[in-house]
Amino acid sequence: MVEKVKSGVPGLDAITDGGLNLNSSAVIIGSTGAGKTTFATQFIRRGLLEGSECIFISLDENKEQIIRDALDMGWEDILYFIQEEKLVFVDASGKEFSSFIKKELPDFVASWKSSNARVAIDPLTPVVWANPARYVQRELLAFMLKELRKVGTLVATLEEHGPPDLSSPETVIPMYLADSVLHLRYRASDNFSRMLKVVKMRGSRHSEGYHKYRIIPGLGLVVFSSRSGAKQDTGLVRELEKLLMLRLNHASPVAISRIKKMLKSMKDADLEDVDINALADSIVEAFV
Ligand SMILES: Nc1ncnc2c1ncn2[C@@H]1O[C@H](COP(=O)(O)OP(=O)(O)OP(=O)(O)O)[C@@H](O)[C@H]1O
Ligand SMILES: [Mg+2]
Repeated sequence: MVEKVKSGVPGLDAITDGGLNLNSSAVIIGSTGAGKTTFATQFIRRGLLEGSECIFISLDENKEQIIRDALDMGWEDILYFIQEEKLVFVDASGKEFSSFIKKELPDFVASWKSSNARVAIDPLTPVVWANPARYVQRELLAFMLKELRKVGTLVATLEEHGPPDLSSPETVIPMYLADSVLHLRYRASDNFSRMLKVVKMRGSRHSEGYHKYRIIPGLGLVVFSSRSGAKQDTGLVRELEKLLMLRLNHASPVAISRIKKMLKSMKDADLEDVDINALADSIVEAFV
C-alpha cells in the first residue's frame, strides 16, 4: 500500500485513493489558465498548514507574482509561513537550467535536513524547451525528479500547448518519468469547461474518468468526484455554510475558524451547477 499525503485540493483525494503518493513526483498538465499555479500553491499551503516545510521552485513566474495570486485567493497566511521560513522560494527564472539542475540543485538537496517537505516546480516547461535533444531532456528531468524526491513529495506543473488532449510532444517525457500524471483539461472555446483526469498514479486505485473542477476564491481548485452536477439556486454559499457546520461537530476550533475564513472569501463565488453536498464533503475532507 502506497503512503499518501493530502493534496490540498478538495475532491481530489477521493478519486486518487487518498491523495498524492508520499515521496513521489506528480506532474500536473494543463493549458494556460487551467489552474496549474493555483494547484501547486494549494498543495504547498496544505503542507504548511500541517507543519511541513515547503519549497516553491519557480522557473518562470516570479515569487512576487505567485504571492500576489495567493493573496488574491484569500490565502494571506502564506506571508506568515514565508516570514517563519517554513516556505522557501527558489527563483530559477532566467538561469541556465542544465547547470542549475546539475550543480545548484544537488547542493541545495544536500543542505536540506529532512525528507518530508513538499516541493512545487512551476512550470517545468522551460527545462523541456531549453533542451530540444530528447535524451538530454530525459536525463536532466530524471535527475531533477530523483534529487527532489529525496527532499519530499513533488508536484511539477507542465504547460500544454495545442489541443488539450495530451498529444503535444513536450509532455511525453515528463509524463513517462513522473510517478503520477494529472490532466487539467481546459478549453476557453468550450464555455470555459474545466475537467480533471488522473492519467496515472502508481500503486493507487484511482478514478479513470474526467471530473468537473472549478476554481473558487478562498478554495482554489475543487474537483467534483460525483459527475451529477445537480442544479442549485442562489444563496448557495449560505447553504454550503449550513451543511458544513452540520458536519463540523467534532472538528477542532482551528479547523472551524479556517473554514469560516474560507467561506468569507467565497462570498462572491458562482456556485451554480455545483453539487453543494459533495462540495461540503470535499471541504471537510481537505480541511479537517
Ligand atoms: N482569486 C481568484 N478567484 C477566482 N478565480 C481565480 C482566482 N485566481 C485565479 N483564478 C482562476 O484561475 C485561472 C488561472 O489560474 P492559474 O494562474 O493557476 O493558471 P495556470 O494554469 O497557472 O496558467 P499559466 O499557464 O498562464 O501560468 C484564472 O484564469 C482564473 O480563472
Ligand atoms: Mg501558472
